[in-house]
Order: sequence, then structure tokens, then C-alpha cells
Amino acid sequence: MNMRFEPSRELTGELRAPADKSISHRAALLGAMASEPVRIENYLHAADTTSTLQAVRALGALVEIRDGQTTIRGTGLREAREPDGPIDVGNAGTLLRLLPGWLAAQEGRSFTLDGDDSIRRRPVDRIAVPLRQMGAELEAFNGRYPPLTVRGARLRAISYELPVASAQVKSCVLLAALAADGATTVGEPERSRDHTERMLLRAGVAIHRNGRHVTVVNADELLLDRVRVPGDLSSAAFMIAAGVLVPGSRLLLRDVGVNWTRTGFLRIVRRMRGIVLGDLEGESGELSAQEPVSDLDVAHGALEGTVVEAEEIPMAIDELPLLALLGCFAEGETVVHGAQELRLKESDRIAGVVQGLRGLGADIEATDDGFAVRGSGSGGLRGGVLDARGDHRMAMMGAVAGLASREGVQVVGIEAAAMSYPGFVEDLARLCS
Ligand code: S3P
Repeated sequence: MNMRFEPSRELTGELRAPADKSISHRAALLGAMASEPVRIENYLHAADTTSTLQAVRALGALVEIRDGQTTIRGTGLREAREPDGPIDVGNAGTLLRLLPGWLAAQEGRSFTLDGDDSIRRRPVDRIAVPLRQMGAELEAFNGRYPPLTVRGARLRAISYELPVASAQVKSCVLLAALAADGATTVGEPERSRDHTERMLLRAGVAIHRNGRHVTVVNADELLLDRVRVPGDLSSAAFMIAAGVLVPGSRLLLRDVGVNWTRTGFLRIVRRMRGIVLGDLEGESGELSAQEPVSDLDVAHGALEGTVVEAEEIPMAIDELPLLALLGCFAEGETVVHGAQELRLKESDRIAGVVQGLRGLGADIEATDDGFAVRGSGSGGLRGGVLDARGDHRMAMMGAVAGLASREGVQVVGIEAAAMSYPGFVEDLARLCS
């Protein structure tokens, strides 16, 4: 479906962003692995996270959704049921990478994961390597892509250094480690989001972090009675970008998750002189069991270009397309390094962002591991047509570009937004009126 986003007057008012997608996936999976029912408040009911509820049902968990609360009665750590057919992960990359960690520990049972055309282009060798070291058997199409078959086994504890920082791969190994025969350590080259670690700590698991290494001790069971999912910073980021870019805007975003490992985008926007106020969590040596929330106060203002370095990438990974858009409106150059992972998302987000924004009049070029944008400052962006390529974050970036542009933007494939943000178009319209 195509939709046009016209240049907007100022955005004002308050908004509660949808629930966090990453935390919702984890709450459903840990709920299915737990021994007692887990009540999840504010679960995200979007396409991707609905795939996770369907997957855990197929594995024997009961899921009840009533009065805004989602309750899961799981099967326990080692008792997932072998389903009759393949598990359909839809478009959800996080489900595709996390679930095999649990399945790898289901001795003597076999599971196949498959999904849509886009998921069949998402690599799974990155999880197959550590899970094989732990003793599971995995088979993937061409050794690398879904359908992925996992044959569960008695698992060994390992020490594993991730070649590329990825919260999905780290989480997969941590979930498998729960049923291994000792303490497993995972290291990553840069810090990535730590929602899995925090939720495991809350579930009574012995887990600790030492710099870029996390160690988890095997467990008999998970004890997690209640999870409250905060608002998703990655969804709020689209409104933040719109508020920063459209002259005269002033927005209040309520109850947004501000876990330090997720707020890289806000730190970069502030460095660009964007105005986003909030009570953000600071960096800490200790692993916390909490997911902090804050209101965020956003105002329009002039931006300056910046350089984003590799160590900042994992903590801003899903917001990098928006940084390219902000860069179009900044004085000077905005350069992103070390973001080659963007090529492996729902679409190749380096190609999509560069071709998409160039089509709207931007002066942007791709590099091997990111992009460089020469901003036009108050000159802004012309507008035109942007193809979302089936990617939710590209669709929403196109919409925000339209509001801030001189001539408006036609987004091809706006329906993709529903993967993570149902009601996105309606929320945007409300803030613009
Ligand atoms: C996610 C981790 C990131 C992110 C994705 C969600 C997660 O992926 O891009 O949208 O919930 O763990 P990678 O782990 O591949 O970087």
C-alpha cells in the first residue's frame, strides 16, 4: 500500500509509544521456558511478536490474552513439545535467532523454523556455530539460511567470543546455556542490548557481567512471575526524529524504555545538538534486573553533523536509518562507520537508506560499512517517492522524511510499519493535527 506524507506543520502533544519489541519477544520466550505462569503487562501485539506467541503455543505453552495482560503457562526449560510441522517465525529475525537457543536443549526432539521471503535471506550460521559447539545438531539451507532444523541434545557449557556484536546471537547462547552442564561465557566486541541478561537475573538465574563478557550458570528452572514491558525507544525514535526536524515541534513521549544499551541514538542526537530531555540510565558496571523508563521531552532545533564510530553501532543499530535522515538536515557531514550489519536486516538498510534518501534529493553515499551524508542545514530535503522494500523501519523513516520535506514523500509499502508499530500512521497524524 502506498501512502503520501505531506510537509507538516509543527508536531505537538503527548504520546505513549508501543511496547518494546525486543523485550516482548524475550518475555514470551522466557514465559514459555518458565515453570510457573508468567504475567506480561503491555506485551506488544504486532506482527513480529504475534509470531512469537504462536511459536510458543506450537511448542506446548498456553497463552491467554485478557484485559491488556498476556499470561503464558510454559512447559519448563527442558520440556518443549515437538510440533507437527515447521514453526513459522513470519518476518521476526529476533524469534529466528533466539528460539533455537532453547530448542537446542530439548534432547531427542527436532524442530524446523521457517518464515517469509525476507526471513529466508537472514543468516542463521551465526547461531549454528556456537550451538554446534555446545552439542546440538543444526542444518540450514546452503549452510546459512532458513529453513533451519535444530536437533536438541544434552548441551556442554562453552566460552564463546562473538565475531560481530549481536544481542540476538548472545541471547541465543545464553538461553542454551541455561540447560548446559556448567557455566557458559559469551564475549562480544562491543556492548549490545542486554534485555535477556536482565530478565534472566529477574528469573533467579546466576548471571553476571564482566566488561564485555557475560557468564551464566545452568539452572533447574526459571522463576519469573511478572514482566512489565516498557515503551519501545526504537519506535519512539521515529516521533523523536519528527519532533527534532519539523520546525516549531514540541512532544512528550511517555514511559519509554531507557536502558543504557538501547539509548545510543539519543546520545548521538544530543551530540548533533538535537533537543531530547529525559532521565536516561547511565552506564553501569553492574548488571541490573530493571528496565528503566522515562518520559522524553523533544523539541525542534538546528542540528550539526557528527561521526558515529563502530563501538556506538550496536546500541543504535535500529535507529541508524533515522540518523541518515537527521544528517540530511544537519550542518556539515554525518558519517556512520562500522555498521556493515545493516546489510543483513529486514532489507539491506545501507542500500535502502542511500538509494531511498538520494531519491528524495539527499547528498548521501554508501561506504562498505555505513554511509556519509552531506547535510543541507536549513535547506532541508526536497521529497519524492521512497520504497520501503518490505522493511518496517524504512517505511516509518520515509513517513518522517515526508513530514519534514519541502514537497512530501510517497512511501511505497507503508503497511510494513505494522511489524513493530501498529497504529504508527494514526499516532503520527494525531501529533500533526
Ligand atoms: C535485536 C537485536 C538487534 C536488532 C534487532 C533486535 C534483539 O539485532 O537489530 O532489531 O532484540 O536482540 P542483532 O542482534 O542482529 O544486532
